[in-house]
Amino acid sequence: MCGAQGRLGRALGCAELPEGTALTGLGRQQLDITDPDAVERALDRDSWSLVINAAAYTAVDRAESERDAAFAVNGTGPAHLARACATRGVPLIHISTDYVFDGTAPDPYPEDHPMAPLSVYGASKAAGEEAVRSLNPDHAIMRVSWLYGGQGGDFVRAIAGAIRAGRHLRVVSDQTGALTHADCVAQAALALGAKMVNEGLERGTYHFAASGAANWHEIAAVILAEMVQLGYKKVPLEAITATEYGLPAVRPANSRLDCGKFDRLVGLPRPHWQTMLVPQLRRILSEQGERI
Ligand SMILES: NC(=O)c1ccc[n+]([C@@H]2O[C@H](COP(=O)([O-])OP(=O)(O)OC[C@H]3O[C@@H](n4cnc5c(N)ncnc54)[C@H](OP(=O)(O)O)[C@@H]3O)[C@@H](O)[C@H]2O)c1
Repeated sequence: MCGAQGRLGRALGCAELPEGTALTGLGRQQLDITDPDAVERALDRDSWSLVINAAAYTAVDRAESERDAAFAVNGTGPAHLARACATRGVPLIHISTDYVFDGTAPDPYPEDHPMAPLSVYGASKAAGEEAVRSLNPDHAIMRVSWLYGGQGGDFVRAIAGAIRAGRHLRVVSDQTGALTHADCVAQAALALGAKMVNEGLERGTYHFAASGAANWHEIAAVILAEMVQLGYKKVPLEAITATEYGLPAVRPANSRLDCGKFDRLVGLPRPHWQTMLVPQLRRILSEQGERI
């Protein structure tokens, strides 16, 4: 697995593995996926039964002014991996995102909906998907949405930190999706990988997200209610539009992914976003000396 030091990479490193399997995690220091020779060498180091690409350039707003860097990691890197895997007959799971869509569809996105990214990051991830599709038919592209969890900064930590600091919250209410814990994505990727290797699972694109959906403002309201119940002071929570918030990269209004194919063929239960959120919030709040 590459991208071992990232949010998903760390979750994969801690995940319970299917019996009889071992996982080797390579961080950027061990494997820079933009270096084709390094990719070839890494693939030759062992006889891999599956490669998971969790490495990515994920600075969505910075990507607007760092197009080349985003495309190098999210477009060219997966191409190197796909080519090296194909030569050796190794299946590849490549992680992608709901940001490949423009968010104008009224319903959750099915896997075969045409991609139409709104941002440089989304376009770079779409390029990575196309590279994987064309260079290694033995692949699963797993699109996931709204990741959080682990130690790094994320929406839940940011909102919890602002409530703790007594700040007035202004949160976007015109983008809807399923907040998905990285641990769930890790379990899903491993289950999907095991089915690919052991049961010849259908190759192609899969969607995976927590069940249920909410906009960012609704998620913030759940965090606030939970924290008020725990004794934190209530702060004002205002709903605003994404345009009012004014981030450089445009995000899809509809980030909901139709996960029916994953449910049918992989069959791992997908917990509701709120079921995972509350324990994670309590963990964050109880971390001794944690500065959020
Ligand atoms: N976060 C989300 O909300 C979200 C939503 C949907 C989909 N996704 C997708 O989910 C996957 C995992 O995301 P994440 O949240 O775990 O991202 P993350 O925390 O940013 O982790 C990405 C990792 O990739 C590493 N990396 C960057 N460039 C690399 C390179 N050239 N070679 C090897 N490693 C490199 C990064 O290392 P450095 O830290 O050293 O740069 C980082 O450790 C990505 O494919 C992402 O596009 C994420």
